[in-house]
Amino acid sequence: MSLDAEGPRAPSREVIQADARLWLAENAADPLDAVVTSLPDVSELPELGPGLEGWKRWFVETAAQVLRWTAPGMPCLFFQSDIRHHGQWVDKAYLVQRAAELVGATLVFHKIVCRHAPGTLTQGRPSYSHLLAFSSGEPVIPKKPSADVLPDAGEMPWSRAMGTRACEAACRFLLNETRAKRVVDPFCGKGTVLAVANALGLSALGVELSAKRCRAARKLDAAALLST
Ligand SMILES: C[S@@+](CC[C@H](N)C(=O)[O-])C[C@H]1O[C@@H](n2cnc3c(N)ncnc32)[C@H](O)[C@@H]1O
Repeated sequence: MSLDAEGPRAPSREVIQADARLWLAENAADPLDAVVTSLPDVSELPELGPGLEGWKRWFVETAAQVLRWTAPGMPCLFFQSDIRHHGQWVDKAYLVQRAAELVGATLVFHKIVCRHAPGTLTQGRPSYSHLLAFSSGEPVIPKKPSADVLPDAGEMPWSRAMGTRACEAACRFLLNETRAKRVVDPFCGKGTVLAVANALGLSALGVELSAKRCRAARKLDAAALLST
């Protein structure tokens, strides 16, 4: 919570129903905005055509746009889960790294987030996700070490959610290592990152195409989820 003349001010949350790419093109980042986001999977974007090629192009272009949007010196974090698509493994960390190379962003860290205990056999989605942080301009260099492997993603309020423990690790990094005041998630879904950011004292802004998910994102309370 921050203080002003009228006393403590609760962190704000704003959720905008819009196409993220148009919104990013029309709205500049505040210098103290950090990004924590999770780009949609191929299964969520059937309009990009059958197969992976159209979606992969969209994914890399969109990740590059998000990285370019983030103010220099502020971090931009991606939480992404690989998929097996008709037997083909899709490494989304590689796709995000391709975008980072295109825009000249530096990798600050790459963490593995376990979705299931190591050693668990899974069908479909692999048992881990990636949490990658980038910055451009003056590099963000963490002063304190933090775990490279998160043993538990935490609660997932819905199937495509970022786990609450992963959100917490992302937000604590912002609080401990950067001057970020607000977390922006341009693909906010049901708002897990926004809710965790608020619970830890950061303001949050989300953009989401689905009206129903926007409504959920305005209401989600992560304090209870984080305490479990
Ligand atoms: C992986 S989910 C995000 C999950 C979110 N981090 C959470 O924890 O709830 C991706 C979201 O992007 C949304 N989406 C897809 N295309 C979009 C677009 N063009 N603009 C904004 N949101 C979009 C989907 O509706 C979906 O909710």
